[in-house]
Amino acid sequence: MKKVFIISGAGLSAESGLRTFRDSDGLWEEHDVMEVCSVEGWQRDRVKVSGFYNLRREQLKSAEPNEAHFALARIEKKYRGRVWNLTQNVDDLLERAGCQDVIHLHGTLRDLRCEKCKTIWDIFYGSQEGEICPKCRTSDVRHNVVMFGEPAPMYSYIHKALIESGLFVAIGTSGAVIDIANLADKSKKSILLNPKRESYAWGGYIDDYFDLFIQKNATDGAKELEEEIDRFMS
Ligand code: APR
Repeated sequence: MKKVFIISGAGLSAESGLRTFRDSDGLWEEHDVMEVCSVEGWQRDRVKVSGFYNLRREQLKSAEPNEAHFALARIEKKYRGRVWNLTQNVDDLLERAGCQDVIHLHGTLRDLRCEKCKTIWDIFYGSQEGEICPKCRTSDVRHNVVMFGEPAPMYSYIHKALIESGLFVAIGTSGAVIDIANLADKSKKSILLNPKRESYAWGGYIDDYFDLFIQKNATDGAKELEEEIDRFMS
């Protein structure tokens, strides 16, 4: 049975108004990533890190899914059970577009996690101020977003998705954290959707490793991508 493996990154949500990380106007231009997205930074200043996630959660409230999110929701629905829909994004725009099978590799911005009993609960777009664990009542709670320096357990799905799928698709990611060129190299067929040619750490460009490079913004390239996936899955 033909399956498709999709990995998306911050570029998928860029046209919904959510900043990416490494673009010129990205989050890492304004914040020291190791201060707000690392275990050391969290241990050093919990208030600062919680404030960073509170702000992003608040911004998410006014963001709307874009055509690329809806295209992925149509793909999921058309090929239920045959789509590995993995995202590095912590926003809920894929779910709000109608996706039901999203695997969040780096966690979820709307959720908090108890540092004692590991309970996870949804606070929607609110602030984490004053939140206590609904199960064990401790105030030792944190954002449910994976930080640099800690494990990302959902990564185990990457290998499973790769070996099960005949088509690998990467949308709106720089490849700075997940080596999408390597995943493309290991796939029978691969498609990249990104407006920019990203250089590859080992030389050349990441798009050199993909069979098809749709060099467009996610919303402009979504229709062509959907047609290519339909062609593969038929
Ligand atoms: N449509 C598609 N892609 C876009 C768009 C757009 N409108 N705008 C920007 N992009 C692309 C950029 O060209 C870039 O390749 O999105 C990518 C964003 O790259 P990053 O900011 O590095 O985001 P991402 O790849 O998701 O980062 C991976 O790094 O900081 C960590 O945990 C964080 O999940 C994140 C991970």
